[in-house]
Amino acid sequence: MNNFGVPRSLSEALHTTATVRGATHAFYRYPARFSPEFARTFIHKFTDAGDTVLDCFMGGGTSAVEALSTGRRFVGCDLNSLAFFVTLVKTTELSKNDRSLLIDWRSRLASAINLHSGDLPDDERVSQIPWTIRKTLALAVATLPSLPNIRTRNFARCSLLRTSQWALDCKRDIPNKDEFLDKHTLHFSAMLEGAAEFAANYDRSLGSKDEPARRIFNSAAVDLSSTSTLANVRAQLLITSPPYPGVHVLYHRWQVNGRRETAAPYWLANCLDGQPPSYYTMGPRRPETWERYMSEIRSSFCSVKKLLHRNALVVQLVAFSEPNVQYPLYLSAMRDAGYRKVELAELGSTSDSPIIRSVPNRKWYAQSKGAIAASREYVLVHRQR
Ligand SMILES: C[S@@+](CC[C@H](N)C(=O)[O-])C[C@H]1O[C@@H](n2cnc3c(N)ncnc32)[C@H](O)[C@@H]1O
Repeated sequence: MNNFGVPRSLSEALHTTATVRGATHAFYRYPARFSPEFARTFIHKFTDAGDTVLDCFMGGGTSAVEALSTGRRFVGCDLNSLAFFVTLVKTTELSKNDRSLLIDWRSRLASAINLHSGDLPDDERVSQIPWTIRKTLALAVATLPSLPNIRTRNFARCSLLRTSQWALDCKRDIPNKDEFLDKHTLHFSAMLEGAAEFAANYDRSLGSKDEPARRIFNSAAVDLSSTSTLANVRAQLLITSPPYPGVHVLYHRWQVNGRRETAAPYWLANCLDGQPPSYYTMGPRRPETWERYMSEIRSSFCSVKKLLHRNALVVQLVAFSEPNVQYPLYLSAMRDAGYRKVELAELGSTSDSPIIRSVPNRKWYAQSKGAIAASREYVLVHRQR
């Protein structure tokens, strides 16, 4: 790493095992997110300040945070409303007044949570949550309207989302109200620090009213290029990570006590839910053929070409449950979409071109079949033909 936290080489960036931290990255642990170092290295090496970075499967917004905090513009989308919410909050600047309002909200929170008052929410999305946390959250959410603007309400919501994820997702021992609030205090101040770090690095002069530096959408990749406000966008780098074929990742649920699934993140983030798991993964996990998945990859990448500069680099991180079958199909879907594969050596990487990265500690593959294959992510680099 150099002094700016940019790995020295592509190889170092690809094999980093550093924990995700810094700026606003830790606001939410989005499943299968890529490391900030990975995004940062490609952004630094292949774009200049003022250029546009695109991510059409942006998930929790790792690439958005890295692009915007290194002087680039960002365009991105995800069809998961939760991903959109998280990316929005991670890349929203807070004013000094917003920060004071939030600190004041936080100082009033504990006294607003009296477990002996009020009703338990009967919303189906939180029915799987043990009642202490359910009621704590309901009373906390009820305080949000006291915040005067959408930025602060979203930030406060996201802080509750973060602590709830810690409290519930894949946890065996669910904390009590006091433990929840203690943890929330820590998360909340770390998030305020993260937001300040993001704002310090964010170049306000890049955006204008008509063309803001950040343009993010809750939409499918295939629809992004028909967004009228993006007609002039020509990104220099597309860096992304589509859903992994056949690999079990739950983008839209938490697992309480390791088993019961809850839609609580949508309730907390006030987002639309109601889609089946296959909606987020381009089809079922074990389909008879991979045609539907490959066809979505083909149409998505074909469509986003309209938003790319002619020489733009297209960098993807993908894991496969059956690499022998899916990897060649994936490459031909990219070819059919109008791209040619670029070897990392062509980009000035060292001769031992690292195209496969082992992923440490991925909770979603540990218990599943095909664990070994799915724990290796392929780095695919393309340009338009
Ligand atoms: C591997 S995750 C991306 C993680 C991201 N790189 C990060 O760092 O958080 C893949 C994302 O693709 C989204 N997705 C699935 N199908 C999509 C589509 N057709 N268009 C846009 N997004 C899609 C999923 O909702 C999921 O958030």
